Amino acid sequence: AAEIADQLTTVLVTEEEIREKLDELARRVESDYDGKELLLVGVLKGAVMVMADFARALNRPLEMDWMAVSSYGAGTKSSGVVQIRKDLDTDLTGKHVLIVEDIIDSGLTLSWLLENFASRGAASIEILALLRKPEAAKVHIDSKYVGFDIPTEFVVGYGLDYNERYRNLRDVAVLAPHVYS
Ligand code: PRP
Ligand code: MN
Ligand code: MG
Repeated sequence: AAEIADQLTTVLVTEEEIREKLDELARRVESDYDGKELLLVGVLKGAVMVMADFARALNRPLEMDWMAVSSYGAGTKSSGVVQIRKDLDTDLTGKHVLIVEDIIDSGLTLSWLLENFASRGAASIEILALLRKPEAAKVHIDSKYVGFDIPTEFVVGYGLDYNERYRNLRDVAVLAPHVYS
């Protein structure tokens, strides 16, 4: 544990704050999607924790599917080149799709994903993102459900990685610059 603490500077969002926020967002989603069939689409791998906790916060029927895309590779900056590693198994025709993401950084991943989903015949497409970095936006993403706006720092934990590590941390924390510089 001491070893991991040396690699982080500050905790930005605690486990408890995440839980409370996801509950709050879940109540909004329950009301907004009343009477509609809901498909949650989690964006692997970062969204795994948000998806697991948010889906359980929802007191209503739903379907879950997963899309695996990656734009960051091993670095700390978005390449803007998004690759599909796993496509959906679900036909989106007529579905009310809620894309579940851990973070909107430059916005390039979701911008690409929205365009990719646009022609698949969904009844509606909205976005839920636990975190957003407003000052890092390269494209505007209309995200209906946002947990926390955070500063432009490299954050890890609760699904977010650096070089595939730190995803299992319970809080969202700032990665110490000495780790990646
Ligand atoms: C991260 C994060 C978002 C995306 C946000 O994914 O999980 O999906 O980057 O960045 P953007 O708004 O600048 O596009 P990453 O590509 O690192 O893949 P991962 O989820 O497997 O870690
Ligand atoms: Mn991701
Ligand atoms: Mg990543």
